[in-house]
Amino acid sequence: MSNMIKTAIMCAALGFAGLLSLQTGPKATTVKVETPEKVTYAEHVAPIINKHCISCHRPGDVAPFSLVGFDAAKKQHTMIASAADAKRMPPWKAVEGYGDFKGENRLSAQEIAILKKWSIQNAARGDAKKEPPTPVFPKTEWSHGTPDKVLQLNKPFELESEGPDVYRNFVFDLGNTEDVYIKAMDVRPGNKAVVHHVIGFLDASGRSVQLEKNSPDDQDGYSSSGGGIGLIPSGALGGWAPGVMVQETEPGVAFKVSPGTKIVLQIHYHKSGKPERDQTKVALYYAKEKIERTQEIFWAANPMFRIPPGAKSHAVNWSTPLPADATIYTVMPHMHLLGKSMKAHVETPQGNKIPLVWVDSWDFNWQLVYTLKQPLEVKRGSKLVVNAVYDNSTENPNNPNDPPRPITWGEETTDEMALLVVGYSVNGGGRQRR
Ligand code: HEC
Repeated sequence: MSNMIKTAIMCAALGFAGLLSLQTGPKATTVKVETPEKVTYAEHVAPIINKHCISCHRPGDVAPFSLVGFDAAKKQHTMIASAADAKRMPPWKAVEGYGDFKGENRLSAQEIAILKKWSIQNAARGDAKKEPPTPVFPKTEWSHGTPDKVLQLNKPFELESEGPDVYRNFVFDLGNTEDVYIKAMDVRPGNKAVVHHVIGFLDASGRSVQLEKNSPDDQDGYSSSGGGIGLIPSGALGGWAPGVMVQETEPGVAFKVSPGTKIVLQIHYHKSGKPERDQTKVALYYAKEKIERTQEIFWAANPMFRIPPGAKSHAVNWSTPLPADATIYTVMPHMHLLGKSMKAHVETPQGNKIPLVWVDSWDFNWQLVYTLKQPLEVKRGSKLVVNAVYDNSTENPNNPNDPPRPITWGEETTDEMALLVVGYSVNGGGRQRR
C-alpha cells in the first residue's frame, strides 16, 4: 500500500500525468425558484431549520448557538439568511448533482430563497399552532451502537488559551496478534469547544512511535503542522467533523489493521481564549461479516505548482492514472487557505467522464469525507482528473499573507496542497460503469 501512495505522489511529482496550470474560474449559475408570498417561521422556516440545522445548532451540541424554536431563530435571522445564501451552512460543500453521496445535508435553492425572504420580511412567526414539533435526538453515548473497541486519550490533553491551531497526533496500538477489520469509526470529542475535527490514520511503519518519543513537550502524542502526521500513512479510517454521520464501509469491505500497525488519531484543536483540556474518545466497529477487500487510500496529488501573488482564480489541474482495477468508495478534497474550488472526475479508457465530487466554495474548516452512494468500479487505465482553483489575491479574506506572496506545496497551513484523497479497494465489487 505505501508503495502505491509513493507511486501516486511520485507520478504527480514527475509530471507523469501531464500537469498543467491554467487561469480559469467556475461558472456561476442562477436558478429560478418559487417562494410563498408571505414567509413565516411556523409554516416555512421551522421545517427547514429542524431538518438541516438543529442536529448541530441545539443546546450542548457543536454549533456556537441554538436555533431551536422561534425566538432563537428570529434572533439570528440575518445571519441565517447570509450563511445559507453563501452556502456556508449547513457545512455540506459538495455541489448538488455532481456525484451522489450518503448522508447529504444541503439546502435546495428553494429553501435558501425561503430563508432569505423570511429575513427580508422581518422574520415573522405566523401561526404558532402550525409549528412542527422539534425533532428528538437520542441520548445514547454512541449513535452508531455499542462499539467493539473504544480508544481514549490516556490523560487529558492540555491546550493553551491562545495561539495558532494545534494538530496533535495520538498513537494507539490495538495489541492485536491477528488482522483486525474495522467497518466504522465514531468520535466523541472530550471538549467540543476546542475539538475541530479528528482523522484516524493507519501507520504500518511504526514511525509514529518514534515521533512521539521525540516530541519536545511532555504531553501524550506529538504535534504536526496542518493536515499531515509527519509521515506517509499506510491508510486512513476516515475523518470526523462536527455533525457528520458515521459511515460504514460497504459489505465485505473493511479497513485492515495488521498486528503492529498503529492507529494515529489526529485531533485538530482550535484554541478558545482560555486554557482547555480535552480527552476525546473514539469508537471502533469491527467487521462481523467475511471481508473480501480492504479499503485503502490513494493520494491523487499535484505538488508541482506555484500560485502567483495576486492571482484571483489560479487553476491547478492534474490527472493520475489508477494503477489497478479498483472500486472507489470515498473522496476527500484537500486544500489549505487559498483554496476556492475543486472538481474531480474519473475518465475511463474509452474517454467517458464520471463525476466524482465538486466543491465550489471551499472552506478549510469544513473538510468532509464524501461517501459515494454507489461504489464506483473503475478499470485500470482510468484516470482521476482533478481541477483545483486558488485565490491568492488580497480579496481572499483567508489569505495568510498581506501582501500575497508566491505559494507552493507544503505541510504548513500557510503553504498549499492540491490533493484528492480517495478511499478505494483493489478489485471490483461495485456498480460497473463504462
Ligand atoms: C454539521 C453541523 C452543523 C449544521 C448541520 C449546521 N451548522 Fe451552522 N454552524 C456549525 C458550527 C460548528 C458553527 C461555528 C463554526 C463555523 O462557523 O464554521 C456554525 C456556525 C453558523 C453560523 C455563524 C457563522 C456563519 O457562517 O455565518 C450560522 C449563521 C449558522 N451556523 C447557521 C446555520 C444554519 C442556518 C444551518 C442550517 C441550514 C446550519 N447552520 C447547519 C455547525 C453546523
